[in-house]
Amino acid sequence: MPPTFHPIHPLFGAEVRGVDLSRPLSAADFAAIREAFEARSVLVFRGQAVDDAAQVTFAGRFGPLETVRSGAVGAGGHLITLTNVGPDGGILPPTHEQQLHGMANRLWHTDSSFKAVPALASLLSARRVPPEGGETEWASTRAAWAALPVETRRRIDGLAARHDFAHSRALVDPGIDRAAVRASFPPVVRPLVRHDWGAADAALYLGSHAAAIEGMDEAEGRALLDELTRHATEPRFVYTHAWKPGDLVLWDNRATLHRGRPFAAGRHPRVMVRATVSDVAAARAQAA
Ligand code: OGA
Ligand code: MN
Repeated sequence: MPPTFHPIHPLFGAEVRGVDLSRPLSAADFAAIREAFEARSVLVFRGQAVDDAAQVTFAGRFGPLETVRSGAVGAGGHLITLTNVGPDGGILPPTHEQQLHGMANRLWHTDSSFKAVPALASLLSARRVPPEGGETEWASTRAAWAALPVETRRRIDGLAARHDFAHSRALVDPGIDRAAVRASFPPVVRPLVRHDWGAADAALYLGSHAAAIEGMDEAEGRALLDELTRHATEPRFVYTHAWKPGDLVLWDNRATLHRGRPFAAGRHPRVMVRATVSDVAAARAQAA
């Protein structure tokens, strides 16, 4: 039986049924999923008993995987663990790097937009979830683009944003040494509007790492980014996922913003594991 796709939102997203991600997918089944990923941007798989190896295998079919940066849980490997639980099993203090990372993830963002090679896709699996809160939301920046007035589209297409990890980290940790962060992650300039799907449609590309608009004065650029983010994250463009252990969500970082929702992070464990697929095409286009 080939996988079937069921809408989860009128504008984007689908739940995929009829696949077992703990086993290798046939070429035909993978092709159907890859096509749905392009079309729908967010794919939800429920009741998957994925372990780390299965998650890496499935993610790797989409392209080369990011290596987790040093300082994060999973450094040097292909899976980053987003958790508020320390190695001894206790909940970490609010000032701990992993808790700050969790707070940063509550801002609308798209993964790795600040890196030299940005992310095509992310695959997040829920291992432990809190009894309430801790949902994840996705906004379709492709649907948001389509809903913009033609004059706005004309005005912003061709602009570029500077993505800077020091900027987004400072939002959750104002005391951060920006120069040190920039030494590891030099800011990158990326088109504000992506055209990855042919002439017929496009997507806004912004999020918490987007610090400024190139060639625009600081305040004016900031106002434009804020205005577009507000538009893109209007409730009509948002899908909210309430996690159950065993859920895996795959999303297109070119076409969505996402954020984690609050929960009692000082009290309840939340453990999520993510594989991130590199957007080699974007990196190549950028270098050209
Ligand atoms: C991520 C992310 C948010 C969350 O995994 O990239 O931003 O709800 N997660 O855990
Ligand atoms: Mn993220």
